[in-house]
Amino acid sequence: MSTFSSLAQTIQPLDAAERFATLPPEYTPTKRLFIKTYGCQMNVYDSERMEEALVPLGFQATDMVDTADLIIVNTCHIRAKAEDKLFSELGRFRIVKNKRKDAGQSTIIIVAGCVGQALGADILKRAPYVDVVVGPQTYHTLPETVMRILWAQPNQPKISLGFPKMEKFDELPQERGLKGPQAFLSIQEGCNKFCKYCVVPYTRGPEYSRPLSDVLQEAKHLVDLGAKEITLLGQNVNAYHGLDAGGKETSLGRLIMALAECPGLTRLRYTTSHPRDVDDDLLCAHRDIKILMPFLHLPVQSGSNRVLARMNRQYTREFYLNIIEKFLQYNPKMAFSSDFIVGYPGESDDDFQDTCRLIDQVHFAQAFSFMYSPRPGTPAAMVKQLDEQIKSQRLQHLNGVLDGHRLAFNQTFQDQVIPVLVERADEDHGCMGRSEYMHSVHFTHPFCAVGDILNIQIQSSSHNSLKGVVV
Ligand code: SAH
Ligand code: SF4
Ligand code: F3S
Repeated sequence: MSTFSSLAQTIQPLDAAERFATLPPEYTPTKRLFIKTYGCQMNVYDSERMEEALVPLGFQATDMVDTADLIIVNTCHIRAKAEDKLFSELGRFRIVKNKRKDAGQSTIIIVAGCVGQALGADILKRAPYVDVVVGPQTYHTLPETVMRILWAQPNQPKISLGFPKMEKFDELPQERGLKGPQAFLSIQEGCNKFCKYCVVPYTRGPEYSRPLSDVLQEAKHLVDLGAKEITLLGQNVNAYHGLDAGGKETSLGRLIMALAECPGLTRLRYTTSHPRDVDDDLLCAHRDIKILMPFLHLPVQSGSNRVLARMNRQYTREFYLNIIEKFLQYNPKMAFSSDFIVGYPGESDDDFQDTCRLIDQVHFAQAFSFMYSPRPGTPAAMVKQLDEQIKSQRLQHLNGVLDGHRLAFNQTFQDQVIPVLVERADEDHGCMGRSEYMHSVHFTHPFCAVGDILNIQIQSSSHNSLKGVVV
């Protein structure tokens, strides 16, 4: 199995005018599209954009795979489990495709995303019923690809991979859809950090930032459609350095300050940040910008300097703790979440205890923890690995420590009145919204609307949510 496929063939996209001019006259917009998304928020954003790009071809989203004329699996390569899921899912879709074929209906299956980029042609070898593989930076070619398949054009290329700089955002239709009061907006792509365990630099390609005006325009469009909260996305979002109209680089902090001027936008978030790329502009934004939420996801991965160095994270625990301290100085309301990898090659018991001590120092409000998963082609996969049992014991212990802090954080909201953005308002008056710190908050209200911000007094808390009454 080849690791990061070099089989990069490019499907040349048509421009929008050509696309419509070439639609066959007998074509009627009645096709169904099923998209299954794995991985990070960037994949969620990409799936939304794929769906939007296929709407002009007459595709409409469905959540019933049996009715789908087109199935897209948007994949994640970050851990082995995520990749395994793809092939079990594809087996299921093959059965759907065969059943539909027996009923005289055709089904196109497309693998998109990071496994597509990493495995390329190997996917077609392992699952020959897959029609096309596209990577995370080339999915703007999908409308042309799908049209060619629908018209049964011969010699349709089956692979579209690689990293054509910026082309994706230039080619995608500017019209966006919106499914609720919250919207994602990718502002930065790729990564140049090359942490030794991670596939992202290989699957998403080199780091680049979208120009400031593009981001502002898309944000305004989303707000016009009804978005109240926008989460800016990037695998290294705080390394953002998009150019302004004068060709000058803009930091994430400055971008946030510009977005704060957008009337109607009530909440801003950004993820995922790297500790090394925190700068004064970002700290000032957290001090000065009221719509910027006081909750930061800042993955530390490990609390041991020895492990951090082996991971090539480019900071020490002291550096990380100092950043946390600084954020709190600029905005005492700040709370933090993080990612942790346990059982990294060479991690000793003492290293692991350093991680637990760091958690006790920062009191993380939320966290995601993972057992190290060796990824093909990455340096950490090529050295001696720890015993699986040790990895799983450490994960269990770490989760216990993290759970304690999470519950303690949630309990600090008892009796407090907090602003909640309404996400769901059911007919029986049961409502759910989000706190500034991303808690699910449950309450009842006879007539509130999705997108409202309400003051809720918290009456009880659990690990996962808060419950309260409207005041
Ligand atoms: N860009 C972000 C994280 C991207 S991946 C950052 O630098 O922090 C999301 C998370 O997956 C990582 O923070 C890490 O905790 C986890 N992860 C990445 N590669 C992994 C691997 N090989 N095994 C286990 N977890 C991994
Ligand atoms: Fe992966 Fe490291 Fe880049 Fe994050 S910073 S995406 S963990 S290589
Ligand atoms: Fe997964 Fe790709 Fe995101 S590997 S975490 S979907 S960048």
